[in-house]
Amino acid sequence: KIIPVIMAGGKGTRLWPLSRASAPKQFIQFVGDRTLYQATLARLADPMLYESPIVVTNEDFRFMVAEQARELDVELAGTLLEPVARNTAAAIAAAAALILDRHGPDAVMQVLASDHEIVADQHYFDAIRSARDAAIAGRLVTFGITPTEPATGYGYIEAGESLGGGAHAVRRFVEKPPLKEAEHMLADGGFYWNSGIFMFTAGKLMEEMEAHAPEVAKAAREAVANAITDLDFIRLDAAAFARSPDISIDYAVMEKTSNAAVVPSSFTWSDLGSWDAVWKLGTRDQAGNMVSGNATLMDTRDSLVMSRTSHLAVQGLENVVVIASEDAVYVGRLEESQNVGRMVKKLAADK
Ligand code: GDD
Ligand code: MG
Repeated sequence: KIIPVIMAGGKGTRLWPLSRASAPKQFIQFVGDRTLYQATLARLADPMLYESPIVVTNEDFRFMVAEQARELDVELAGTLLEPVARNTAAAIAAAAALILDRHGPDAVMQVLASDHEIVADQHYFDAIRSARDAAIAGRLVTFGITPTEPATGYGYIEAGESLGGGAHAVRRFVEKPPLKEAEHMLADGGFYWNSGIFMFTAGKLMEEMEAHAPEVAKAAREAVANAITDLDFIRLDAAAFARSPDISIDYAVMEKTSNAAVVPSSFTWSDLGSWDAVWKLGTRDQAGNMVSGNATLMDTRDSLVMSRTSHLAVQGLENVVVIASEDAVYVGRLEESQNVGRMVKKLAADK
């Protein structure tokens, strides 16, 4: 069976002001009655396919992680707590080190983001099974999404020869290319977006981490060896973990390994990485507006308007985002919304 590892330590600043340092987007309900983290847990419910999940997060989110799992009656197999944020390579290496100790090198782990919108239909589970087979055969497996625009916030995967069973070797992995390069890849074809879901055995991941990012591997191994367990919480050793470089799995391993595979997939996927991604995925009315909470619109088109508090009235605007949370209001152009993170940095600096 597959051991799920959920990455839930991200800050999600691009969906400010609903997504906050105190409650980032994985722990918020955007649509429906579940948070994105809870929807992630729900996709792992099949006991024939999955073991209980491991969550990697930090001190601040540990109660949200536990409480939101309890609401769904999901039992976690442990929550790894990072003393400092060292990005996804260290978080994944720590989980792999824990799984190595508990289950040995052949255990298959699936790494999942906690903040994606996914429709877990037949296509999705077919892809999961293909990926598991390729992982058992010693590959670091990614899931390839057919790109629809030259987005610069994703990793791009060039598929190579078929490995059978729905998987292909990876010819090239390019993390977050500049716009020009993204445009070229889209025009050339044969490229997929990296969905941010990974499948590999714990042993293979550690082996590749040792080869391409040895300082991350060492820090993670020591942080797990000296961790302090407190009920379900596993506190990674602070001094050891802090020695890890701050680097994502994509730059640290996926761009460098020659053992990557991709399973091209056609399930519905969005990383909800910006307000315009939320707008694209959401339900829009005839005027192209997505509205949630207290709001009245007039002569307004193709806009996203959400309020958690005051009544919003929007008149005579197009392609705008207006978001009101408990203590902040954001107004911007929809196509600029990839840059909200920059605004959040400025706000922090102005404080
Ligand atoms: N525990 C932990 N610790 N989790 C983290 C940390 C960390 O330091 N940093 C990020 N995460 C979590 C986030 O909460 C998210 O669920 C996941 O790891 C991915 O991190 P992001 O910060 O959202 O990555 P990204 O969106 O910029 O890029 C990745 O995802 C894209 C698809 O959404 C890359 O893998 C890209 O190649 C990929 O296309
Ligand atoms: Mg993301």
